[in-house]
Amino acid sequence: MTKLEMLYEGKAKKVYKTEVEDRYIVAYKDDATAFNGVKKGTIAEKGVVNNKMSALLFKLLEEKGIPTHFEKLLSDREMLVKAVKILPLEVIIRNVVAGSLAKRLGLEEGAVLKNTVLEFCYKNDELGDPMVNEDHILAVGLSTEDQLQTVRKYALKINEILCPFFLERGLKLIDFKLEFGIHEGKVILADEISPDTCRLWDAATNKKMDKDRFRRDLGDVEETYQEVLARL
Ligand code: C5P
Repeated sequence: MTKLEMLYEGKAKKVYKTEVEDRYIVAYKDDATAFNGVKKGTIAEKGVVNNKMSALLFKLLEEKGIPTHFEKLLSDREMLVKAVKILPLEVIIRNVVAGSLAKRLGLEEGAVLKNTVLEFCYKNDELGDPMVNEDHILAVGLSTEDQLQTVRKYALKINEILCPFFLERGLKLIDFKLEFGIHEGKVILADEISPDTCRLWDAATNKKMDKDRFRRDLGDVEETYQEVLARL
């Protein structure tokens, strides 16, 4: 498979066409941004960690019945994926209070939530990815009702699969973000699952093992990304 024209360059990845109509190549970069692009930097070898970790988790989820865009790893930084039309939604799943939820509701980080919380944001950099509810999504046509119900079902099932998977490896899955796309008319999981898109805390010490080390200047950023991959 060869990389042809670049279709898209995002903050952390590039997407290329290939000679096959409905297959793209995703190349993971070391560039890191936070706070909607206000903070910029580099995390050495992050692209390798995120590519390998996403591949491993997509494979696991496929085995458990979640359709994903993942086809195969091509190199340390590249994977072959099914071409999708991304739904303009960031789907956030929360098990423990952290980040923007702690801020918004004035809660301590680390408080356990009585039930899993699903949040949706409209994927739009100019607007700063505003939170939307299901009525907004349907009212402005960000997805269809069927697509939304499938997204909900998959997001909750993914959480049920990933929580014990990480815990067996000494990591608590605090919260994470998913993106879905449409391939051959069906909703499938797309984008990535990595320390950029998940909050992972060490199960014994609650040490933050994710992008919050970069966002909050906590140090050991590169080492922590490597440590997460090594534990998987
Ligand atoms: O910032 P907030 O607390 O809302 O983030 C919730 C989760 O979603 C975190 O795991 C964060 O890494 C992820 N996220 C993301 N991309 C965004 C916003 C949040 O991966 N644009």
